[in-house]
Amino acid sequence: MKFARSIRPYSCALLLVTAGACGALLTEATPDADLLDVPLDGLSSTDLAAFARGDAEFSRPFSVREGLGPIFNDLSCAACHSGDGRGRPENVLTRIGTPADGFLASLGGPQIQSRAIPGASPEVVPVGVTLSLRLPPPVFGVGLIEAVPEAALLALADSADTNRDGISGRPNWVVPAAYVPGLSGARRIGRFGRKGQTATLLEQTVDAYHQDMGITTEQHPNDNLHPNDPASASDRANDPEIPSATVAAVVAYLRMLAPPAPGPETPDAVRGRALFTQAGCSACHVPTLTSGDAPIPALRGRTVTLYSDLLLHDMGPRLADARPDGSATGTEWKTPPLWGLRLMTRFLNGQAFLLHDGRARSIAEAIDWHGGEADRARTHWLGLSPADQRALLAFVGSR
Ligand code: HEC
Ligand code: HEC
Repeated sequence: MKFARSIRPYSCALLLVTAGACGALLTEATPDADLLDVPLDGLSSTDLAAFARGDAEFSRPFSVREGLGPIFNDLSCAACHSGDGRGRPENVLTRIGTPADGFLASLGGPQIQSRAIPGASPEVVPVGVTLSLRLPPPVFGVGLIEAVPEAALLALADSADTNRDGISGRPNWVVPAAYVPGLSGARRIGRFGRKGQTATLLEQTVDAYHQDMGITTEQHPNDNLHPNDPASASDRANDPEIPSATVAAVVAYLRMLAPPAPGPETPDAVRGRALFTQAGCSACHVPTLTSGDAPIPALRGRTVTLYSDLLLHDMGPRLADARPDGSATGTEWKTPPLWGLRLMTRFLNGQAFLLHDGRARSIAEAIDWHGGEADRARTHWLGLSPADQRALLAFVGSR
């Protein structure tokens, strides 16, 4: 079954731009593939037009003629980020090595590109090295994530565990690339990626074009080549293969993509919310943060119901990938936001894939995998009555 989106002429976003109203014009229910493809409220008509442009670029599959490859993982952003939501196991990226040994670049690191254009060879997964599998996280709400002030995250950090709750969240400090406007050389809290290894959506986007699709940009003007395949000539498209306006459109689209609203507050979900706090889940999955300043007015000063502190936590040996990233260690992961869970199975053929590599097939399984700093919360969860466990799952599943 193919999930990749093509351009959708009846998408809500485009209708909003042309007609200013969406629900009124739709004659049938929104197709599942578009459920998460919704702009934030409060956007200007200019912003909405930009959203639609970026949406089309996010869905655009590249051809060899347009510069795909020479080595790559998939043809479009949307191919991996199904319907903008959580990815599927076949979209998992394989990362190798550690910063200490230069990501084993001679073996094709940091990321294995498992596909190649005609005439080039794909990279193969080397044996005997550390591998880390990464399932694509959802991309909705990332503009709000980017707009949360660093001070708010630092206020949640407790790296020495001074309050002795067994939980010591700490930021992944990273230095943004020199091309990021206004940030050159400054240390920033990473917010994106499974270990919070990337600080800005601009870097996340141009790295994805370069590493995942083999598309060059002004920021990465040289094609990513197979290190051990001299025959793997660069593709013939002129570099940069996409203009900066395309990159800007995709970044703007990501920033304006709204997080899905939670489901109805059923009695079970209300009870589950209290149990979530009692179990200590909210020590890491912090219910709300507030955004600060942002390039788009609709992103400023909003309550973000993230259920995350965006900080790193040692999650114990069972979840460890032994691969450091930025200042994150091989056992640390960034608390993932708990949102869109109520809709996730709609894109994935009724299935759910949770945690950094998609190993958990349900919310209960995801909780069972928690360890390290989350040991106490997991023990609390295991001690709940079946009815209380159901209520807690109803709450998390309503996000
Ligand atoms: C081959 C699959 C694949 C493709 C193609 C792809 N991504 Fe991703 N994306 C991922 C994976 C896997 C991660 C998590 C990486 C990690 O944690 O190291 C990710 C992470 C992200 C994130 C961070 C989300 C968060 O909250 O942490 C954003 C934003 C994103 N991708 C945008 C894009 C854009 C824009 C494109 C196209 C230019 C794209 N991706 C193409 C697989 C893909
Ligand atoms: C010490 C911090 C911490 C505590 C406490 C904690 N979590 Fe998590 N949670 C995380 C981290 C970090 C991950 C990601 C781990 C990974 O990807 O391997 C995660 C992942 C999850 C996921 C999967 C999300 C996804 O998108 O894949 C769910 C669901 C979840 N937690 C629910 C809970 C519940 C319910 C509790 C309380 C019983 C809880 N967590 C307690 C840090 C925590």
